[in-house]
Amino acid sequence: MGRFSEPPPRPFLKWVGGKRQLLPELLKAVEAAGSFRHYHEPFLGGGALFFSLARSGHIKAQSFLSDANKNLIDAYLGVRDHSQTVIELLEAHKRAHGEAHFYEVRAGVPRSLAKRAARIIYLNKTCYNGLYRENSKGRFNAPFGRYKNPLICDHENLLAVSKTLQDVDLAVRDFSDVLQLAEPGDLVYFDPPYNPVSKTAAFTAYFRGGFGADAQHRLAEVCAELAARGVKVILSNSMTDLTQSLYKEFHIKPVAATRLVNSRADRRGKVSEALITSFPMCREGQPRAERRVGARVQRRVNGSARKQPVSSTAARAGIRRKLARQWLVENEYQDVAALIDDVTRQWKVEGKQTRRNWWEILAGDAKGNPRVVAGRRFPVLRAAQLRMGVPVTSGALCRNPQEEAPPRRGTLRARKYS
Ligand SMILES: C[S@@+](CC[C@H](N)C(=O)[O-])C[C@H]1O[C@@H](n2cnc3c(N)ncnc32)[C@H](O)[C@@H]1O
Repeated sequence: MGRFSEPPPRPFLKWVGGKRQLLPELLKAVEAAGSFRHYHEPFLGGGALFFSLARSGHIKAQSFLSDANKNLIDAYLGVRDHSQTVIELLEAHKRAHGEAHFYEVRAGVPRSLAKRAARIIYLNKTCYNGLYRENSKGRFNAPFGRYKNPLICDHENLLAVSKTLQDVDLAVRDFSDVLQLAEPGDLVYFDPPYNPVSKTAAFTAYFRGGFGADAQHRLAEVCAELAARGVKVILSNSMTDLTQSLYKEFHIKPVAATRLVNSRADRRGKVSEALITSFPMCREGQPRAERRVGARVQRRVNGSARKQPVSSTAARAGIRRKLARQWLVENEYQDVAALIDDVTRQWKVEGKQTRRNWWEILAGDAKGNPRVVAGRRFPVLRAAQLRMGVPVTSGALCRNPQEEAPPRRGTLRARKYS
């Protein structure tokens, strides 16, 4: 049980796409990943894998859980920070439960976090099929479900969940923000809305943003970059041609699952899903995906692969920052990359702008002394001084005499790291 409470915490929301049935396979993948530091789940939903890992004592350091759905994250925050009030509110919903009460609660927009959490839990436990659905305005729109005795307030579990979440970072985020948070040696589990097996099979109404082919491509890029950095990646998706082509550098294992999304029971059935990992699941002697994925990312930054559209100066700056960081990871400066992650994470939490020219910081001050940023001392790197075109000072760090200094601004264009 490790550091977790009794009774063990279980998901407190039933979520479409919930991974309870895939859990045995997912747990095998976690075992194959070996030890990890932080756990990240950027498509949190009901959090089936997180709670399972919490129960089995796999979570040893802070976890980062997020989802784009604000109503969902509010429910987690409410349970984490106001469990007692949420329980009292749910007891009140339980006493008042009925069709009229359901629609009254559905129409409401409570202000406090505790009330919002209780509202989502109540609606989730009593709506038709437990199917979370939002309309284009982001409003919950599932109809009343006719259950005999719905478990509206499982207070023991809510207390256990609250305890488990105490030191967990919970936030409304786009999945790509994990790039700012994950460090080498961390484990990330992605469970995105599935890439539809047919045009009619799409279910992307967990929240109003939807999740189309562009998002699937973006996600594959994020996975490749994480794997190239040494972050362990697990992803589940439907087994489609798109999935197979996007993740051909990864290890893909087909697993059978029952699709529950279709509202007609006769159309639900066994489908093949893909369990994708950046590390080998079982076969020995396979090349390490991290290396293969790293080569793919390298081709991409060299400009030989398909270019992603970049929509704004800020986005371009973001890409430059990632590539600077990537140079550090590939040239034995993982610890320096981790420092950047630490500072970026802190700034994000504080709501500050996270864009910086890291090369300038790593080149040291005018006298070649280390710079201190957000309380962290950044070593002076020879490569950064060359990159910035300032004199190389005697104490500047150079771990690998063969390392190629990143090209200077203005000479970049088709070259690599800015
Ligand atoms: C398949 S569900 C996750 C299910 C979860 N693993 C479970 O066990 O219940 C996908 C989740 O992705 C979220 N989502 C959709 N688009 C997103 C985005 N761009 N960034 C982050 N989360 C997103 C949805 O709100 C939904 O909760």
